Amino acid sequence: MTRHPWAIQPLKVPPGSEVDFGVEIDNVDLEHLTDDEFTTIRDVLYHQHIVVFKNQQNLSPRAQYELTKRFDPDTDNYGHKSTTKYFRGLPCQPQVMLKGNGFLESYRGLENVTLRHPNHRQFHRDHLPEEKDLSWTRFYRWHIDAALYDSYPPKVTTLMAVQLPQGPPQTIQYDDGSGETLEASLAPTAFISGQKMFELLSAEDQEFVKTSRVEYAPHPYKWISKARALPTGLGLYTEGRELPDTELPPIDLSKIQILPMPWQNPVTGKLSLQIHPSCVRKIHRADGSVIDDLAQVRDIVYRLQRPAISPQHVYAHDWAEGDMILFNNQGVLHTVVGTLRPDQLRVFRQCNLAASEPPQGP
Ligand SMILES: [Fe+2]
Repeated sequence: MTRHPWAIQPLKVPPGSEVDFGVEIDNVDLEHLTDDEFTTIRDVLYHQHIVVFKNQQNLSPRAQYELTKRFDPDTDNYGHKSTTKYFRGLPCQPQVMLKGNGFLESYRGLENVTLRHPNHRQFHRDHLPEEKDLSWTRFYRWHIDAALYDSYPPKVTTLMAVQLPQGPPQTIQYDDGSGETLEASLAPTAFISGQKMFELLSAEDQEFVKTSRVEYAPHPYKWISKARALPTGLGLYTEGRELPDTELPPIDLSKIQILPMPWQNPVTGKLSLQIHPSCVRKIHRADGSVIDDLAQVRDIVYRLQRPAISPQHVYAHDWAEGDMILFNNQGVLHTVVGTLRPDQLRVFRQCNLAASEPPQGP
């Protein structure tokens, strides 16, 4: 078989965009990746944060898993301990999750699966008007892929579009008084650079984040299961809806995650501001003091993060079937976007593995 040279180019961004990360690569045989090729991909990833491999329709779940694992060979568990109604592991490769929207008769050993694309109505406090439901949309939930309790945030995530719905573009509304909006294709995945998020901070704030750590709540997703999000999807309102410890599963204090605010890129040494805005519970200061007022903690994190999700910094990937995105989960934040009807079929495969070691701080 003839092997064509890799074709690498920057991601396409709209006029006025200041997105300075990400490449797409065509002609990569991910099914039979050599060690040299992997070394190149790793280097490209840690400089670019996102790599979109084109035309990977035939990639096996095993090869997807193996690419993911190559970034952290000492780990083998999916990034979350339990699966949810939103995703199911494939029987042939349980660390690879099926996600998406709509009903699927069968896929790689799973039968009669109903998938649901998250919708802001299930998570945001305030909703878009009904009549705009399919023309406007929101960032659902900015996040890092991570359990944030009892396991470390995965180093990378791989996300592949198997099947996509067709439909008109949608306008992402920020609805936070900024007047900001972003035009996007139907149900893109949006990314921002944690490195840019760090670089946009004042010198004073950079010093603050370099010397502070964040503590995440135990069982954070259960803890926030009744809380409601801001319209930007960048964190939560503080209205007393978090579950008390007595309503959570037993808490093992040794499993609580206290992590640096910025994480260091293993190749470039640069810092990315990597805080999961919905799951954060406390801030530990350099002097040993702890900010544990939840509203204050969230206000601080929001002020640090909000500039970097303005439209000019967001890359909203317009998916094509066969796209396989590899992203630096310790260097970007991302979110589901878009509103789909139940009959709009969207099939994705996702894999990440709880890291074998904590992310490195400054
Ligand atoms: Fe994710």
